[in-house]
Amino acid sequence: MARSAGSLRAPLTRWRVTPSLPCALSRPSNIWDIRYISGQQVSNNASLTYTLRSFSSQPNKGDNGISFQPGNRLAGRNCMITGGTSGIGFAIAERFLQEGASTITLVGRSQARLEEAATKLESLTGTLPGSDDSTSAIATRTPEEDSQQDNEGKIRLLVGDVSNAGPWMRELEKEMSNIDILVNAAGISISNILPRSELADISMILRTNLEGAMLTSRALLRASVRSRMRNRTQAAGTKPHSKCIINVSSLLALKGGTGAVPYAASKAGLLGLTRSLAVEASASMKDIVIRSNAIVPGYIETPMIADFTPGEITRLKDLIPLHRFGDPREIADAAVFLAQNEYANNCVLNLDGGLSAV
Ligand SMILES: NC(=O)c1ccc[n+]([C@@H]2O[C@H](COP(=O)([O-])OP(=O)(O)OC[C@H]3O[C@@H](n4cnc5c(N)ncnc54)[C@H](OP(=O)(O)O)[C@@H]3O)[C@@H](O)[C@H]2O)c1
Repeated sequence: MARSAGSLRAPLTRWRVTPSLPCALSRPSNIWDIRYISGQQVSNNASLTYTLRSFSSQPNKGDNGISFQPGNRLAGRNCMITGGTSGIGFAIAERFLQEGASTITLVGRSQARLEEAATKLESLTGTLPGSDDSTSAIATRTPEEDSQQDNEGKIRLLVGDVSNAGPWMRELEKEMSNIDILVNAAGISISNILPRSELADISMILRTNLEGAMLTSRALLRASVRSRMRNRTQAAGTKPHSKCIINVSSLLALKGGTGAVPYAASKAGLLGLTRSLAVEASASMKDIVIRSNAIVPGYIETPMIADFTPGEITRLKDLIPLHRFGDPREIADAAVFLAQNEYANNCVLNLDGGLSAV
């Protein structure tokens, strides 16, 4: 892998298939079977429900003075997050729950990693002192709807490989029927200079990072049209609220970097997807409002950049005007803003510590 001093560096991919995750080991990386997790826990452990009992009313405090006050900015919203098992997607899931989201559907390739993430989310957002019952955040639904919601659980898990979404598209569209906020955070990076890049790697990056987001977005649009037709007969005259797609792009979409050609192309493609959809959805979806937005992170402390050498970390931090990598919770902040601001459409938020200015 070639690198040049001063250039951006593509994060390496990390296939976190470790012996501690037996279920992941038994599954190929191109999992196409889908499991919709809802209902009560069953004995074979294939179907678990994670019901968020409560969430914190205390501000979170972490490194770099990151703090925020949990609120109810996303009360009543149903969210789907691809890549929700780790890093940025996980931080967004955590924060969305703390902002009162009704349900969070995590999408990932491994049931074991999804379950691990759900358990962690529950402990991070559900057991802090001073919390109260999360159902209090849902004031707009009928008691019947509330009880149905409770039965289904707050956190849902969807096993699926977005790079191979064809075989589970039907299930995905079904899952999308009540989704208000879709976050496309699933992504991989394989760092290599182009002449040495394998066709399979190039194709995998494009299919995961770009085609995957396009297909999940398409599923949301299709499901929204179907729901509108259903709702028309059920409740004519009621105005549907806005839906929102948030694509996690990268600074490499805008700046050059050695070893990052397919990754950069996929992330630039995501910005094109965001922009075109922001226009097309308003023209073609009639009374359904679907906003399309993007976040452009610089270097963020997640497993994706865990393979950087100490030398690379020092070099990169020297380049960044704020002299540090970002925290995934800082990206989650931007996601909350985009999800709840009704005028945000084709809003592209860069969070890179100033690296885009260098
Ligand atoms: N960290 C950074 O510095 C940085 C900078 C700019 C942009 N980004 C972007 O931010 C997003 C999140 O990355 P991260 O840093 O949080 O990395 P991460 O911790 O490695 O998380 C990647 C996530 O993507 C999921 N994923 C990967 N391939 C998938 C597939 N084919 N189908 C379904 N899910 C898949 C993984 O889930 P499973 O492994 O469980 O399937 C995991 O949850 C990515 O799109 C990345 O390109 C990251």
